[in-house]
Amino acid sequence: MQRPILTTSGRDGARGDVPERSYEKIRRILKTMTGLRLENYKSSCVKRRIAVRMTSVGCDTADQYVDFLLTEKAEAGILAKKLTIHVSKFFRNPSTFAKLKDEVIPDIFSRHRLEGSRSVSMASIGCAAGEEPYTLALILADCFREDLSRFNVSIHGTDIDSGILHLAENAVYGAESLDETPPEVRDRHFTCKDGKYHLDPLVRNMVSFARCDLLRPTCKAATDLILCRNVLIYFERSSQETIISSFAESLREGGFLVLGKTETMMGKARELFLPVCRIERIYRKA
Ligand SMILES: C[S@@+](CC[C@H](N)C(=O)[O-])C[C@H]1O[C@@H](n2cnc3c(N)ncnc32)[C@H](O)[C@@H]1O
Repeated sequence: MQRPILTTSGRDGARGDVPERSYEKIRRILKTMTGLRLENYKSSCVKRRIAVRMTSVGCDTADQYVDFLLTEKAEAGILAKKLTIHVSKFFRNPSTFAKLKDEVIPDIFSRHRLEGSRSVSMASIGCAAGEEPYTLALILADCFREDLSRFNVSIHGTDIDSGILHLAENAVYGAESLDETPPEVRDRHFTCKDGKYHLDPLVRNMVSFARCDLLRPTCKAATDLILCRNVLIYFERSSQETIISSFAESLREGGFLVLGKTETMMGKARELFLPVCRIERIYRKA
């Protein structure tokens, strides 16, 4: 008789594997200890990153890692950070920011001029260390001076990770964060000290930050522009739809939403927005 072939996804989990039972426990521990709710994220991505963390702390099986999570007090916080990817840079996808500068932002200001309203509100959701909302602030400071003096413009950055928001508030970056930034913009608004770039406090003060889980949005209504780029890719499809619908609620009529280059509108969310520029993933509330 042939012996059954043992797979790496056995009941207790083999080296580097995260079986469903352990994954469920890890999800519960993270939810209780950090507030991070993994059920909405793509499990294949999350499991891959948990496996990397397990190996780096010397756990051979997921069950061992569950014990480690329960005994090492700091581990839940460390794992939560490993699971939320913070890659970003100033002017990431420059063509998107060119479109915002040339078409979207002028449209927002001209609407407010026509309506006689003075408050303009922009948000970067999943803002990591602030590179994205600060890029908006740099564009406004350089190209929309008159509008800045005429309107009360608020730029709000939110993220689930309070540690990364602390870095955002400090606004000190390595050179790699600025490698898509036009050199004249970098030289005008940053001071280089010991190889680190410090953002001009005038620009820094244009942006405020707060911790917010985009699955439990507390965004004010009547936002003019929401950037939520390279965040939805980590979520399951149904959560992506829910999140996009919540953006529609937060935006004012005709307000703009910008997604990441590999993200798309899907399902019912498509009925809530009209495409402005498909290539740059810019949409307008219908
Ligand atoms: C890859 S970064 C994107 C940064 C920036 N938007 C960009 O495109 O350069 C993803 C960010 O989403 C944040 N994030 C993940 N889950 C989140 C959630 N549930 N609520 C808010 N932010 C979240 C992460 O902490 C991380 O900073």
